[in-house]
Amino acid sequence: MSTVAPMTPRQHRAHGKVILLGEHSVVYGHPALAGALADGVIVDATAGRGLLRIPQWDVVIDPTVDSDATLARAYAEIRARAVAPAVDLTLTFNLPTGAGLGSSAAMAVAVGRALGLEGAMLADAAMASETVIHGTPSGLDHTVSMAGGFGLFTRSGGLASLKAAPLPLVIGHTGKARDTKGRVARVAQLLAERSDETRGRFAAIEALVQRGAGAVARGSYGELGAAMTENQRHLEALDVSCPEIERMCAIARDAGAFGAKLTGGGGGGCVIAVGNDRPVADAWRAAGYEVFSATVSA
Ligand code: PMV
Repeated sequence: MSTVAPMTPRQHRAHGKVILLGEHSVVYGHPALAGALADGVIVDATAGRGLLRIPQWDVVIDPTVDSDATLARAYAEIRARAVAPAVDLTLTFNLPTGAGLGSSAAMAVAVGRALGLEGAMLADAAMASETVIHGTPSGLDHTVSMAGGFGLFTRSGGLASLKAAPLPLVIGHTGKARDTKGRVARVAQLLAERSDETRGRFAAIEALVQRGAGAVARGSYGELGAAMTENQRHLEALDVSCPEIERMCAIARDAGAFGAKLTGGGGGGCVIAVGNDRPVADAWRAAGYEVFSATVSA
């Protein structure tokens, strides 16, 4: 990578993401309804020599020093695609990390932007960084992070944007790490062992995704919530839920949510709920779960 003259200090941002409907079936070519979170990652660029600082993790990555660390390799992938300005980067997460909310993709996109990347080059750099961190990402996270707003994502077609008003969501953490890899493997096993039933569930989820997309566009959150709850039943049957997720969904519904489901890989991680945000957030907190209020928006 070559360097050019330092630019003035600047701030670069990228969104986190949430899957509203359609995780897991999206792996097999079906669409998922995804949204960008207003929150995400902020990168401050100041004159320097390429250091990446993440004070929240007590991490400083020096690109001139060889490192096998995952984060260093991910950063190297992004830098390799940039004619980067001589800047140091300071990165701040303003959403929970490791929770299935797309923090690593937002990190890659914000860092890439800070190094002057945009468009297809930025997408390529973010995909390379995500591949270092996640193995075989579908590309949904960085695509949504770059685009903002709502969209229907398919592996083959990418993201088709959807016009909709900002959607308030409550996001609660089960307190258990999500198990994307293990749960994706379990669904693959079910598909092999109980092919017809599993394919039937994928088709049913796809119908819910289409229904949910229409509901989001119309601002019909009751209908969206119903689709979410129904999607959760299929996810449970696909063995990607866990007792904590089921408990949180029940608490949310009892507190007046229009609907609730896991988001992302499952087996732990986060649950999302729509409708009656405050009572739902209070009920989850009272039950000891960590809660974030979030807005899906451009
Ligand atoms: O756990 P997350 O946020 O990385 O989401 C995984 C979503 C899956 O559909 C389960 C897998 C994928 O690659 O799309």
